[in-house]
Amino acid sequence: MTMQIDFVEKPCRQCPTFDECKAIDETYRAQLEANGWNYRQIKVKGSPLKTPIRQCTDTIFKQYAPFFTGKDILEIGCSTSSQFTLPFIREQSIRYVGVEPRSSSPGWRLSMLPRRLIYKPYNVIAAKIINPLTSSLYNQIQRMKRKAPRAYYMRDRFPSPHLTTPASFDVIFASSSIEHWHEDQPGSSEDLAWNGDLSVLEAGVQMYQADIRRAYELLRPQGMLLIDCPIHVHGNVIFFRGFLDHIKRIFESVPWTSLTYESWRLDYSGLRPYLPDARRDAWKTVYKQPVENLWIFNVIARK
Ligand SMILES: C[S@@+](CC[C@H](N)C(=O)[O-])C[C@H]1O[C@@H](n2cnc3c(N)ncnc32)[C@H](O)[C@@H]1O
Repeated sequence: MTMQIDFVEKPCRQCPTFDECKAIDETYRAQLEANGWNYRQIKVKGSPLKTPIRQCTDTIFKQYAPFFTGKDILEIGCSTSSQFTLPFIREQSIRYVGVEPRSSSPGWRLSMLPRRLIYKPYNVIAAKIINPLTSSLYNQIQRMKRKAPRAYYMRDRFPSPHLTTPASFDVIFASSSIEHWHEDQPGSSEDLAWNGDLSVLEAGVQMYQADIRRAYELLRPQGMLLIDCPIHVHGNVIFFRGFLDHIKRIFESVPWTSLTYESWRLDYSGLRPYLPDARRDAWKTVYKQPVENLWIFNVIARK
């Protein structure tokens, strides 16, 4: 069977969130100009202002949300900021597994199970004692009610050896996560001493190809892989430096029935490019690569 591959440009002007992005820039212009376009430094009702690329990933999620109803979903790299909130999982009758290795920061909240059971100010105690207890109690109650618990959070890396059942998910989702899976490799955003040796790319492609093969195996027939990632923001050299041909080779290494690549905010006309001043300076002086805009690469693959 031949794989159908499409590339779809998603210009900001055609995006349902265009007006919202424009309004954010206008409303907070003075503060953004003063702080070098650092959106997250601005707090709105106690939370950081969404960055333009977070607007993209939220819009992508909303676009697919109706498709998630009643599905078995695996999220890779859910952290505490996942778009799959517990109310959403419940309302949409989703059976959800989130895999996340991080165990520090507020991420403790997801050490085992429902986030709503965790009392925030006592995160460490919650993670070490209360959370496992409440989690197993919660599971026990669900079992007594003969209801499968809908949301599990595993503290692990993908591909976790605990994800053993083949072909058991309808959707595998990862938002702004894949670029971190192999970020300990040479040339990543953390590697300031990288000598530009491009032979590291091949090793990266092979590691990621193994991950994508595992995701493919875990998907049911007709299952969908949905992965978005920022380009030029951070992480593994392939994503950080924007080697698109290598990214494509990663996804094209298994026989999907269809594969669609989308570029979000690459064509930002009508809005500003998204590049905080500190990042602009780092690209110029540290990483020495011409970068004028950060954007989102989105992949939709069907088994
Ligand atoms: C930037 S956060 C994104 C969180 C969330 N998906 C969102 O969009 O807000 C990326 C997450 O991926 C996680 N991650 C890194 N490597 C991973 C791996 N191999 N398997 C699962 N998660 C991983 C990181 O710990 C981090 O919490």
